[in-house]
Amino acid sequence: MTADVAGPSSGSPSRAEDVILRTEGITKRFGAVVALRGVDMHLERGEVLGLVGDNGAGKSTFVKILTGFQPPDAGRIYLEGQEVSFHSVTDARRHGIETVYQDLALVPQLTVFQNLFLNREVTSLGKIGWLSNRRMRRLAAEYLHDIRVNVPDINAEVELLSGGQRQAIAVARATRQNAKILLLDEPLAAMGAKESTLIIDLVKDLSKNRGMSMIVIDHNYTHLFELCDRLNVIQQGRVTVNKRVSETSVEELTELMVAEYRRQVREGQAPTGS
Ligand SMILES: Nc1ncnc2c1ncn2[C@@H]1O[C@H](COP(=O)(O)OP(=O)(O)OP(=O)(O)O)[C@@H](O)[C@H]1O
Ligand SMILES: [Mg+2]
Repeated sequence: MTADVAGPSSGSPSRAEDVILRTEGITKRFGAVVALRGVDMHLERGEVLGLVGDNGAGKSTFVKILTGFQPPDAGRIYLEGQEVSFHSVTDARRHGIETVYQDLALVPQLTVFQNLFLNREVTSLGKIGWLSNRRMRRLAAEYLHDIRVNVPDINAEVELLSGGQRQAIAVARATRQNAKILLLDEPLAAMGAKESTLIIDLVKDLSKNRGMSMIVIDHNYTHLFELCDRLNVIQQGRVTVNKRVSETSVEELTELMVAEYRRQVREGQAPTGS
């Protein structure tokens, strides 16, 4: 089972210059809990990488470290070959790394176009820019059209939109300026089939037509196989499998998870479900 963990594997990149983001030995503890135990990962340009693993495996913790929300205890992050350390989410954003969290951080009472511009108008001089509502409306409509996101009305308050439409606005907001890497933590949670398709199409479009590199966390293997180029399984704070989607299957991943669960039961570590 660990054949793909160390050394070159089928999921390894072909050339170093294809790698936009790489981590080495990322470790994170919360008191007695070791959330991450040395995560080695890479993301290629224009690639969609899926992270899969049980509840509590460390997926969100890893993404929060990549986005500058919290620092690792140990390990290194390389962005386009250069070692970086992020001191805040703003700092990671300056490097072109954006995240969409599950709560989306949109303001329901503001309109679609106002949400798209919220806290984002920082000019090249580092000053907060000022845009007229008219200009914001036009730019919002243009960008949403460009990335093929249809909302009924950009003047509508976000609270009137469906979950899928809100998620699309959050992704649009994250990618509108300078984003090179987009991190999505369970973007399809609690969405119906039609809404999921909207986001899946958006993610595919951003990666294939705009060269955006993405990491997506999802518990649904069908979604992951549709969305991703490659998958990393995280188990107990480590990457245990690194494979292109063409080289694995829903059945194989399911078997891995069941085997891991059985191992935990044998060792008395399985969640009790209470
Ligand atoms: N801020 C925190 N304080 C204490 N413990 C934390 C904190 N954040 C995460 N943990 C712990 O770290 C471990 C990994 O959590 P994490 O949220 O990364 O899991 P996950 O893989 O995203 O799970 P899920 O699929 O349920 O979202 C868990 O045991 C969790 O309880
Ligand atoms: Mg999580």
